[in-house]
Amino acid sequence: MKRKLLITGGAGFIGSHVVRLFVNKYPDYQIVNLDALTYAGNLENLTDVKDQPNYIFEKGDITDESFIDDLFEKYQFDGVIHLAAESHVDRSIMDPLAFIKTNVLGTAVLLNNARKHWKDKMDGKLFYHVSTDEVYGSLGEEGFFLETTPYDPRSPYSASKASSDHFVMAYYHTYHLPAVISNCSNNYGSHHFPEKLIPLAIHNIKNNKPVPVYGKGENIRDWLFVNDHARAIDTIFHHGKIGETYNVGGFNEWKNIDLIHLLCKIMDQKLGRPEGTSAQLITYVKDRAGHDLRYAIDATKLNKELGWEPSLQFEEGLEKTVDWYLENETWLNHVTSGDYQNYYNEQYQKR
Ligand code: NAD
Ligand code: TYD
Repeated sequence: MKRKLLITGGAGFIGSHVVRLFVNKYPDYQIVNLDALTYAGNLENLTDVKDQPNYIFEKGDITDESFIDDLFEKYQFDGVIHLAAESHVDRSIMDPLAFIKTNVLGTAVLLNNARKHWKDKMDGKLFYHVSTDEVYGSLGEEGFFLETTPYDPRSPYSASKASSDHFVMAYYHTYHLPAVISNCSNNYGSHHFPEKLIPLAIHNIKNNKPVPVYGKGENIRDWLFVNDHARAIDTIFHHGKIGETYNVGGFNEWKNIDLIHLLCKIMDQKLGRPEGTSAQLITYVKDRAGHDLRYAIDATKLNKELGWEPSLQFEEGLEKTVDWYLENETWLNHVTSGDYQNYYNEQYQKR
């Protein structure tokens, strides 16, 4: 095998798209997907690649030091693409320590093992840390997040991701660990766990349930199709400059309420309902604590230096996403049972 890669969190939303892309595009790379299969990890996301000869799944926890040490010993990785994380802001407000454990300690355990196993020859190795634009905090009506924007995280989730980013750069500067970071805006697309805004709204509209909109729905997010993020990760992994950060985003800002109205319109068309039917499900609920007003990424560096650009317009991507959810009812039924139900009751019923 030409390369031996560890991809963490490969059973999650973005990770499964990254695994699929790498397994199919690079048959001469051995891809080891390490995932703890938390509520957010689902091997059904990868049924199409599970039998490929260059793909291996390992179940385990990134915070488990001896397990990670053994894994590096067993596979002799020369690259890591690290996506495993607790990723939902609302869950981080309920249980911040779980985020500190996985996102901060877990990243540190991986970095430490990369350092240990690569210490004799750092050349040709790469630790790629996948992070979020939320580390930059919240924007007002003007401006964009640049790679040079100071970190200003405001939720337990973004604070834990910011901390993990700092550890990555600390290992780069202190131990010369070859590392790169990307900070991406909100993703949408297939296989997205239906507690995040877009899949939750699709699921609820389909089932004629209220679509919860926090506050006045005026918060703004910058949405990128998940396959475009996976392409960006491929580009940065192969061509990014060691020690650098790249912002990834689609120059695609939407107020939550406008996005939900667009989604309602698409759903009415797809479900053959009279226009305006789904919008009646919109329900304003109590705002998220510390709700960041606006995220907006300036992805010029990635475009100018590495030639990446998003491939899809939002309306087209959203329609593809809706089609996928409507065609994959079994997937949705499987992930909406169990822990998700408990979370959903706690998050919404008490409002
Ligand atoms: P996700 O929650 O869908 O998936 C996370 C995966 O990590 C799951 O498969 C889960 O089982 C696994 N995992 C969690 N804790 C683990 C542990 N201790 N050990 C091993 N595996 C563990 O998340 P996602 O949306 O796919 O995000 C992936 C990465 O991308 C995260 O690092 C996130 O911060 C980052 N990111 C996400 C977005 C977004 O819009 N979703 C945007 C920018 C960056
Ligand atoms: P989310 O998908 O949780 O992503 P993030 O908070 O990481 O940006 O939420 C996207 C936006 O939608 C955010 O402003 C919060 C809002 N939101 C709702 O209005 N209702 C909901 O039920 C959820 C889950 C989110």
